[in-house]
Amino acid sequence: MKNTVITFGQAKSKNKKLTMLTAYDYSTAKLIDEAGVNSILVGDSLGNVMLGYKDTLSVTMEDMIHHGKAVARGVQNALLVIDLPFMSYQTSVYDAVVNAGRLVKEAGANAVKLEGGETVCSQIKTITEASIPVMAHLGLTPQSINALGGYKAQGRDEDTAKKLIEDAKAVEEAGAFALVLECVPAKLAKHITEIIKIPTIGIGAGRFCDGQVLVYQDMLGMYSDFIPKFVKRYTNLGEVMKEAFSMYCKEVEEGSFPNDSHEYGISDEIIERLY
Ligand code: KIV
Repeated sequence: MKNTVITFGQAKSKNKKLTMLTAYDYSTAKLIDEAGVNSILVGDSLGNVMLGYKDTLSVTMEDMIHHGKAVARGVQNALLVIDLPFMSYQTSVYDAVVNAGRLVKEAGANAVKLEGGETVCSQIKTITEASIPVMAHLGLTPQSINALGGYKAQGRDEDTAKKLIEDAKAVEEAGAFALVLECVPAKLAKHITEIIKIPTIGIGAGRFCDGQVLVYQDMLGMYSDFIPKFVKRYTNLGEVMKEAFSMYCKEVEEGSFPNDSHEYGISDEIIERLY
């Protein structure tokens, strides 16, 4: 059954945990969708894990649309959320609505995600009024990496914890249908989860959130540039892939691949006539 923003809201009231994973291409999206995840996020983390940038700041609308389209073709039941990249919505409410519209019309998003609290509430409100559901994102917001001074947990002192609570209430009030909390102390995420009505989706925000999201390369052990504390590796696909790649090289070099089972036939008479 197709997951929608309505089923997201219902899950919170039924106390049913929500699952979300990132995807950036057709084949992976299809596998994740078939596994029964509630939502797939085409995150701007594609800048790191797919394009090899050191942060997400260089990611463009064209990147998001290109990968979003591929993912959309692989998704049947998951709610497809696509990130608005850096400077596609901060610049003005007009830019925000136009770019959110592009993610829906050109890439096939069911909803968009953007980072920030009170400062982006007019964007959240106007995009929502254009009938495009918005997922908000607070805590460690990678698009603000230069302002935050590094990838570190947020809301660990009283002032910043209070600010996070105010921002969470503000994005709910502005119309966001869900809220990602990234790298926030578990007890603070619990408090926020209890005081707002929209579901919270945690990444490094502990067990009390209404749902969880992970970058799929992190959980499969495919990305080793940086492994955050909050990541659980469910398998080490990176090692399995490397073994398979080197076995392929070895077999090609020694001549054991390809063998006759991988070859197409042709009659000997035809071959003889070619010499
Ligand atoms: O870009 C992304 O993948 C994200 C998740 C980490 C929530 O925003």
